[in-house]
Amino acid sequence: MYSDKVLDHFANPRNVGVIEDADGMGEVGNPTCGDLMKITINVADDKTISDIKFQTLGCGAAIATSSVVTEMAMGLELDDALAITKQQIADELGGLPPEKLHCSVLAADGLADAIKDYRSKG
Ligand code: FES
Repeated sequence: MYSDKVLDHFANPRNVGVIEDADGMGEVGNPTCGDLMKITINVADDKTISDIKFQTLGCGAAIATSSVVTEMAMGLELDDALAITKQQIADELGGLPPEKLHCSVLAADGLADAIKDYRSKG
C-alpha cells in the first residue's frame, strides 16, 4: 500500500523540531481529520531556505509528506519552494494511495504558510 520511501520517512522523519526565533512559521490543520502541522524556516540573504524543521501531529502519510517536503525545500529559492505542489510531494515519495493524497496538502500548505509569514514581516 505504501512505498518504501513513505515508510522510511514515517519511521525516520527528517528535520523534526522547531527552529527557535525562526524567520517564518506556518501552522496548518486539516479540518476533516484534525491533523496539525507546524513548519519553521530560516531564510538566507540570497532568499533561499537555509534551515527548515517540522512538527506534525497526524497520520503516517502526513508525517512522511512533511518530512520529504523539508528535504525538497531545503536550499531552494522562496518562489521555487512556494511552487512545490502536493502532487510533486506525493511523486517524490513514490506515490501515495489515492485516499491519502489529501495528506500531502498539509505539507504543501504548511510550507506556503511559513513563506507567507516570512514575507509578511518585510
Ligand atoms: S489523515 Fe489527516 S493528514 Fe492524513
